[in-house]
Amino acid sequence: MTGFVSLVGAGPGDPDLLTLKAARRLGEADLVLYDALVSPGLLDLAPRAQRFFVGKRARKKAVAQETIHWLMVRAARRGKRVVRLKCGDPFVFGRGGEEALALARAGVPFEVVPGVSSAVAAPALAGIPVTHRGLASGFVVVSGHSEKAYAPILDFVAPHSLTVVVLMGLAQRAAIASLLMSRGWRAASTPQSETWTGTLAELASVDPGPDSESAGTLVVGEVLSVAAEIAQKISPPAAVAASHGQK
Ligand SMILES: C[S@@+](CC[C@H](N)C(=O)[O-])C[C@H]1O[C@@H](n2cnc3c(N)ncnc32)[C@H](O)[C@@H]1O
Repeated sequence: MTGFVSLVGAGPGDPDLLTLKAARRLGEADLVLYDALVSPGLLDLAPRAQRFFVGKRARKKAVAQETIHWLMVRAARRGKRVVRLKCGDPFVFGRGGEEALALARAGVPFEVVPGVSSAVAAPALAGIPVTHRGLASGFVVVSGHSEKAYAPILDFVAPHSLTVVVLMGLAQRAAIASLLMSRGWRAASTPQSETWTGTLAELASVDPGPDSESAGTLVVGEVLSVAAEIAQKISPPAAVAASHGQK
């Protein structure tokens, strides 16, 4: 008897941004292996499942990637329905591709359930359209984890031609800002609550708070010029709930 593995995207945090398919898979699961940045409330959708945290918390050792592969394969071979729950989309900087390959090579049946990636959701929730007619006809998403990852890509992006979205980049924010400015990028905008907006020159000195080394998305580009106006008019969650008759 062989079970099944679903590599599931949990979306950017808000449980309401989970897909219907992901919610169904959680409801059917025997085992959920979940990462950091997955909203704890989502685990309530898997009442019959055993749940294991296999993610990495700031400065603590993560469960080895090979161990995660082994846990998925072993459970599936025992006939279990496994949900591998990863924040955002499983194939965007989440090592989901490696997990899919491990399952494929082990002959375990699996599927991919895409999720709403923070690469677009984090900007959208802050009122930043990653593309906008006349301002940006495309966007590039890079990992800010190390210079080796982002520098070769950003070197080829002409200043102000595209929107640049950086995941895992808060710790490297000074280096990223400096690289972009050295390539001719400049930015200016206004401060807003919960979303910090400012110039590249100011980015290095921003204190993003204690937990932000692991979560936070940087967006650079001309689209920021429309973001303040959009963000001001986005209804706050309480107003949305009230207009939908929810408490
Ligand atoms: C390992 S990557 C995983 C990305 C994920 N697969 C996705 O599609 O969103 C983790 C990074 O995603 C970004 N991220 C994840 N959740 C976020 C959120 N709720 N708000 C802002 N950024 C987030 C942060 O840049 C964080 O460092």
